[in-house]
Amino acid sequence: MLYPQAVPSSRLQIKENVPLAPYTTFRIGGPARFFAEVTSEDELLEAIQFARHRRLEIFTLGGGSNLLVSDSGFDGLVIHIAIGAPLQFLRSGSFIDCTAAAGMDWNSFVLAICEQGISGVECLAGIPGSVGGTPVQNVGAYGQEVASTITHVRALDLESNTFITLSHQECGFAYRHSIFNTTHRNRYIVTQVTFRFDTNASPNLTYADLKKHFASQLAKNEILSPLDVYHAVRSIRHGKGMLIVEGEADCRSAGSFFKNPVVPESVLTQLSTVLQIPVEKIPHWPAPEGRVKLAAAWLLDKAGFPKGFAMGNAGISSRHTLALINRGNATAAEVTALRDTIRKTVAERFAVDLEQEPVQLGL
Ligand code: EPU
Repeated sequence: MLYPQAVPSSRLQIKENVPLAPYTTFRIGGPARFFAEVTSEDELLEAIQFARHRRLEIFTLGGGSNLLVSDSGFDGLVIHIAIGAPLQFLRSGSFIDCTAAAGMDWNSFVLAICEQGISGVECLAGIPGSVGGTPVQNVGAYGQEVASTITHVRALDLESNTFITLSHQECGFAYRHSIFNTTHRNRYIVTQVTFRFDTNASPNLTYADLKKHFASQLAKNEILSPLDVYHAVRSIRHGKGMLIVEGEADCRSAGSFFKNPVVPESVLTQLSTVLQIPVEKIPHWPAPEGRVKLAAAWLLDKAGFPKGFAMGNAGISSRHTLALINRGNATAAEVTALRDTIRKTVAERFAVDLEQEPVQLGL
């Protein structure tokens, strides 16, 4: 049944019992009791009004690329953010500010920026999802984090019921963190993001995979354009099954399922003893406060969960150990059973607690 609109001129439609699996890259999940696709800030306000009248819980859905939905679905209102608008550019000196609507496909945004020869987000090509989702978990890949170019985020504040603009500082960005997924979770709904690019900047190839990809060009000191890097990153991601390609089983995932753990140095030493592998052969990177970041993928492998591992219809990608996948008709219960088995084994063997990266709904 379709519900009548609160505002007669509105095109907002609220549907009932809408299966959520097709809205997620995992292709898993039961129905939403109510579902609204909002294409403007006015429609967003209207959808919120609908939920408040019925005392429904609200869940904001973007690209569904970092999400695990329960098999029984969600008993509230899912608001699918489909707010679109042409990109707005504002030039000041050597900087260009670009404002994008939350519903815009992230990769299309990256491509539009790279096509103008602008550097700043080229390493984030091929990340599934929408623009509005990127500040929430501060997406990052191949040496770039979205936070380094975001200057402002416009959002609906559900406490004051007004649209506000948060500065970079106010967003509280850190590795895969912001106020939107920590201290102020469920308070804001992002509708617009503003980025600032330095037109004098050029692609910064810090990441080993990229250096390897461009080895011959770098040896000849060739200048690489943001678009060259865009294509390289997409190709590297494809090789790791981290690009959504319809029909490829490895792509039915939510990307990295665990964050790379940041641990005290003593954990690294302990790991070296337990595995009898010298510290320098264990992938790790320096982290703030004298800690070290470990590669979760490597830990999984060493704990007995290699690429291609299967447990029922859930499994591990054949191309990257950190992506849990839906091998076909997997339930959320099968994915969480695999997750729990992995976490328990890694904790017992290596004394490392793995933190889940994807958001979960109804679980
Ligand atoms: N490794 C393995 N096995 C694998 C893959 C990797 O042992 O199958 C080890 C290797 O030692 C490798 C290290 O893990 O050097 C790091 O692997 P990789 O460069 O593929 O990156 P990652 O740490 O696994 C992170 C992000 C990805 C992002 C890539 C590239 C997190 C949780 N994940 O993965 O982001 O694309 O770096 O920069 O930080 C995501 O968050 O969903 C995501 C895909």
